[in-house]
Amino acid sequence: MTKTITLPRPDDWHLHLRDGAMMEGVLPASRDFARAIIMPNLVPPVVTGADAAAYRDRILAALPEDQGFTPLMTLYLTEATDPADVAAAHADGIATAVKLYPAGATTNSASGVRDIEKVMGVLERMAEIGMPLCMHGEVTNAEVDIFDREAVFIDRVLDPLRRRLPELKIIMEHVTTADGVAYIESAEENLAGSLTVQHLMLNRNQMLVGGIRPHYYCLPILKRSIHQEALRRAATSGDRRFFLGTDSAPHAQHAKENACGCAGVFSAPLAVACYAQVFEEEGALDRLADFASLNGPAYYGLPPNSDTITLIREDAPQPLPETVATGAGPVVVFDPGSPLFWRVAN
Ligand code: NCD
Ligand code: ZN
Repeated sequence: MTKTITLPRPDDWHLHLRDGAMMEGVLPASRDFARAIIMPNLVPPVVTGADAAAYRDRILAALPEDQGFTPLMTLYLTEATDPADVAAAHADGIATAVKLYPAGATTNSASGVRDIEKVMGVLERMAEIGMPLCMHGEVTNAEVDIFDREAVFIDRVLDPLRRRLPELKIIMEHVTTADGVAYIESAEENLAGSLTVQHLMLNRNQMLVGGIRPHYYCLPILKRSIHQEALRRAATSGDRRFFLGTDSAPHAQHAKENACGCAGVFSAPLAVACYAQVFEEEGALDRLADFASLNGPAYYGLPPNSDTITLIREDAPQPLPETVATGAGPVVVFDPGSPLFWRVAN
């Protein structure tokens, strides 16, 4: 039976747009979103306020005319980042947040943080001015198993930092474990988490059973189903500490289908429909607006969007786009792995 729901237009609180020809090709795929937090892990990374202003200008120049979209810029935290530059970029409305990548944690993170002591000056300044810190929450120590890296990060990095600087507003991006959910639920303030489509829809079996599927490989890596269940419960609970962040991360097809394939799932074109599918399966469609449109702006101290989108639930599974063509080559679109009945009305 066809049904429709209307939501304030969602925002994407974690998006990789890349640059140049790739950016031009993938930008239109985010048209369901009004705003997005734009990840700074370019090569070289977006470190200073001047870098962010120039990158924002390139995004706006590449934006199709009919696509209302506001990029919210982030600065890539390095051990050489200048607190005064960060504060000025925030005051000027150039940078919304700072992003912490532990060095070596993921795609293009070589200039990330090795020693948190070296960035305490920046973090203290951010706490003073109320600027949020987005975190890729995984340790990179070689002896820590890839499936445990998020839980170990909470113990070794996140919890000590929050005790030391409780005023710092933190977003644990792309939460992938029950440990992450429980930790966020235990926090009274200044901690929230974003959740991706793929971590809600899939677990590691879909990536590894019956053949290895490189297009499901992302970081943090897909976990076992008990974690997936915890994420689905958190997303659909209405809890204001959880909100939408796709982590849509395009890589050219040849870089994914490779003996050493890149991490990243390109979900932007289908993301809103996929989240609706998850919320329907969990009997929580009445809470989709909280997750997709309200909790994120509230945490970032921004108003929700005043325009709306309408989602339509069709009787038949929707045809899925396989690839998006870009000047940097085709990019394979996320396959939900099960029928998708929802689509966004145009
Ligand atoms: C992201 C990328 O490709 O930039 N990849 C990913 O697997 N998520 C980086 C990131 O967000 O960790
Ligand atoms: Zn990340």
